[in-house]
Amino acid sequence: MSLLEIEDLSVTFNTADGPVNAVNGVSFAIDKGETLAIVGESGSGKSQTAFAAMGLLAKNGRAQGIARFDGQDLLSMTQRQFNKIRSKDMAMIFQDPMTSLNPYLRVSDQMAEVLMLHQGLSKSAAVAEAVRMLDAVRIPDAQARVTMFPHEFSGGMRQRIMIAMSLLCQPRLLIADEPTTALDVTVQAQIMQLLADIRRDFGTAVILITHDLGIVAGFCDRTLVMYGGQIMEEGRTDDIFATPQHPYTSGLLKAVPRLDRDAKTLATIAGEPPDMSSLPPGCPFSPRCAQVLDHCPAKRPALAAAGDRRRACHLPAQEVA
Ligand SMILES: Nc1ncnc2c1ncn2[C@@H]1O[C@H](COP(=O)(O)OP(=O)(O)OP(=O)(O)O)[C@@H](O)[C@H]1O
Ligand code: SF4
Ligand SMILES: [Mg+2]
Repeated sequence: MSLLEIEDLSVTFNTADGPVNAVNGVSFAIDKGETLAIVGESGSGKSQTAFAAMGLLAKNGRAQGIARFDGQDLLSMTQRQFNKIRSKDMAMIFQDPMTSLNPYLRVSDQMAEVLMLHQGLSKSAAVAEAVRMLDAVRIPDAQARVTMFPHEFSGGMRQRIMIAMSLLCQPRLLIADEPTTALDVTVQAQIMQLLADIRRDFGTAVILITHDLGIVAGFCDRTLVMYGGQIMEEGRTDDIFATPQHPYTSGLLKAVPRLDRDAKTLATIAGEPPDMSSLPPGCPFSPRCAQVLDHCPAKRPALAAAGDRRRACHLPAQEVA
């Protein structure tokens, strides 16, 4: 049994302009200690897939399908049950640490509160544990700084504090939603290294959600590529980078800056991401695909598996440019 199993998951939002189908029949699984990247352009349904599994969808959203954590059905859980599982089994971190940190509380108080509530520690034991976690995420001089307020730390340090908070109850799964997007490149690399260390030291499975394929290589075992709320391709990260088998993945990869390539050869994918309230009946990428076939706009390609690779495209894999 996988740690998290998602089967045929769909998320629909009710809006004044009609339903928005943000996620459309997504299936994947992640095992204990594994790292999975979910990549795709803005609006492709990455966050809503995670939010549905974490019970964090907006009020106008509804999830259908199956999501199981360690065999427990997530989609039928009450908010109370979700609160319990979110604090000790699955944690989520975000681009903006202030979505998780309380600006009016000292870091020591907010971290201790979690431990006192969920682990029954005394205040002094909880603060000691908070310092240990801040050390683990490499906050310099944690013992002295634990009593500071969030705004007294830099953006990168705040990100580390949020990561420390999310690890307090030793979750088995950490979902990181664009954790480095707001940071400069050096700090980005430090946070990615920190996530890699956490995975190694604590055995935590990590789902990394990002629009930036560049940070995925060397960190994630597998990569799942989403477009229009659907999975376009999934496979081992090395294989995806070496031989993309979907025109969308190929387009994303051509837009990743690389040391061995002249910046002038970087290509962006022409056209706009799709309007999720009116997707074409066939392949969602068809309006922008440079290799589109006659039947692509009308006929949705099935997500077909070959070995440990899955792809949804009518074009034979070896013909993807
Ligand atoms: N509460 C809501 N009501 C209506 N539509 C919504 C709501 N929340 C999200 N959506 C829509 O769902 C779609 C998928 O959103 P999602 O947040 O999953 O994108 P994403 O892939 O995470 O993009 P980004 O990289 O910008 O974070 C988008 O078209 C978005 O506008
Ligand atoms: S199914 Fe057709 S339109 Fe979609 S990615 Fe493949 S070739 Fe392009
Ligand atoms: Mg998002």
